[in-house]
Amino acid sequence: MRIKTQQLTYLTTKDLFNLYRAAAEVERAGVPGLFIEAGCALGGSAIAIGKAKSKQREFRIYDAFGLIPPPSEKDDADVHARYEEIKSGKSKGLGNNTYYGYTENLKEVVTANLAKHGVPVETNNIKLIKGYFEDTLYLTEPVAFAHIDCDWYASVMSCLVQIEPRLSPGGVIVFDDYYAWSGCRSAVDEYFRDKSGFELSKKGRKLHVRKAAR
Ligand SMILES: C[S@@+](CC[C@H](N)C(=O)[O-])C[C@H]1O[C@@H](n2cnc3c(N)ncnc32)[C@H](O)[C@@H]1O
Repeated sequence: MRIKTQQLTYLTTKDLFNLYRAAAEVERAGVPGLFIEAGCALGGSAIAIGKAKSKQREFRIYDAFGLIPPPSEKDDADVHARYEEIKSGKSKGLGNNTYYGYTENLKEVVTANLAKHGVPVETNNIKLIKGYFEDTLYLTEPVAFAHIDCDWYASVMSCLVQIEPRLSPGGVIVFDDYYAWSGCRSAVDEYFRDKSGFELSKKGRKLHVRKAAR
């Protein structure tokens, strides 16, 4: 509730709780691998994930910590209109606040938000990785849980090609934007079209994908 009242997330309370519960279940089941968030903005959903995991489990948070990259021709008009608004400098933030993408020191702000909400990065094995996923998100380890919340087709696809092949049995990926942005939906549909062994379910306004346990 404090994450919501302090306006640190775009998720609804229900979706935030579902995200927490999904991560906590993966933790409880002892699924091996990293926890990942791709797209943290102010860190609200990252706080929820950080609270759901054990202190030892590594949690990597990837974000531009600046302006979101431009969409591509794989995104529809809805996405391009939203990006033009962001680029113009006129996007509104949550409540009456400045839009997070215009904040100079966003990585420091997110680090402070995590600490303020009981999950300081130093003692919870949390790493914040700044840059575009296309440059920063290269994995060699197994993944247990991922929250992919990065809006556009290319961003979502960059995450999928790295994360899905390393997802442990029983692992879960939550897609924030599947029911919100056309590009995210196209990327997910395209990627999973020829894949089997995954259970897809709509929880609240989000898509949860679970890899079958062996
Ligand atoms: C909707 S926000 C995340 C919201 C957040 N999870 C919450 O709790 O409200 C999407 C984030 O994804 C980031 N993002 C999108 N595409 C990216 C990319 N290709 N590389 C790095 N960051 C990206 C944006 O900069 C932004 O911070």
